[in-house]
Amino acid sequence: MKQNIQINGKTILVTGSPGFIGANLVIRLLKEMKSGTIISLDNMNDYYDPKLKEYRLGIIEETAKGSPVKHVFIKGNIADKALINDVFEKYSPNIVVNLAAQAGVRYSIDHPDVYIESNLIGFYNILEACRHSYDNDATGVEHLVYASSSSVYGGNKKVPFSTSDMVDNPVSLYAATKKSNELLAHSYSKLYNIPSTGLRFFTVYGPAGRPDMFYYSATEKLIRGETIKIFNYGNCKRDFTYIDDIVEGIYRVIQGAPAKSIGEDGLPIPPYALYNIGGGTPENLMDFISTLQEELVNAEILPKDYNFEEHRELVGMQPGDVPVTYADSEALKEDYGFTPNIRIKDGLKMFAEWYKSYKH
Ligand SMILES: NC(=O)c1ccc[n+]([C@@H]2O[C@H](COP(=O)([O-])OP(=O)(O)OC[C@H]3O[C@@H](n4cnc5c(N)ncnc54)[C@H](O)[C@@H]3O)[C@@H](O)[C@H]2O)c1
Repeated sequence: MKQNIQINGKTILVTGSPGFIGANLVIRLLKEMKSGTIISLDNMNDYYDPKLKEYRLGIIEETAKGSPVKHVFIKGNIADKALINDVFEKYSPNIVVNLAAQAGVRYSIDHPDVYIESNLIGFYNILEACRHSYDNDATGVEHLVYASSSSVYGGNKKVPFSTSDMVDNPVSLYAATKKSNELLAHSYSKLYNIPSTGLRFFTVYGPAGRPDMFYYSATEKLIRGETIKIFNYGNCKRDFTYIDDIVEGIYRVIQGAPAKSIGEDGLPIPPYALYNIGGGTPENLMDFISTLQEELVNAEILPKDYNFEEHRELVGMQPGDVPVTYADSEALKEDYGFTPNIRIKDGLKMFAEWYKSYKH
């Protein structure tokens, strides 16, 4: 059962905006909402070039000029409890979308501290602030939506991956923090009746995406004439999801919160839900690379006669990596009437065209 959440006139806090997914979500909200306030909160860290975050913030601010919705940007760290409490006290958000996190599987091997700080302490601060939003009988937070990840499935052999699969064997610290978020959210939903929905995103890509992700870093390496490493000798399948599909999914999910109800014990049944959002058509890594190459040539980023064979090296599996990701998004379809449907060719074309305009 879903509780309809009206977004107009509401205050929506989006942490991790102007990160990749956060910025695109905020732009969509600014276009759709008739009134209200959106708060973007981000520490603008330099995990990748912060200029890209400034660029996305510029687009957000430009969009806000033509929107009836007020936009506020706060530069800050979700691991700073006092700051988070101040933000909740000052703005009383009705909806919270927590996307701020240290992302990336490989980076978590050499930089574990920042994952604990942002993904665990930061998320805990958000949960605590949601809990106290109901103090003194205030309406408080109507829906907490937060990012989880397909990486929680680790080396899951059963495909497609379903949220009912057992995911107790993470193969990276990043995955362990994301699974922990789901567990923490469940306990807070049960104890404090916070309607919460976790979303397991599957490899999100698109214009102004993350430079640490394969399609983006491969593009830059090929331009520099360097060699791209193809992991697991190319025997990887990824369920890639175009950014607009992810935003559509989040946008719908925000507006339907798990309904509150009381169980036989007289205590709340946790208003808790979890969904996959993924394309549902895993692509062979080699096919994905061929399409990327084609689109880079079509966008005239690379010449027609570029020798791609010379610029690739097949290497073994990396620690923390998984050979396959494949989303079962049936529940999202049933509950929100939506399945991601943007094709890789179209998505990579959009990326290549954006890249050309951004760099030239
Ligand atoms: N892009 C994907 O393929 C993908 C897949 C699965 C899950 N996710 C999750 O989705 C969310 C958004 O990912 P994204 O791709 O937009 O990444 P991103 O790195 O572009 O965005 C995350 C933003 O959070 C900010 N941030 C990090 N730690 C923070 C902190 N402690 N306080 C405040 N801000 C902080 C960063 O500066 C960044 O702008 C993340 O939680 C990520 O783990 C992304």
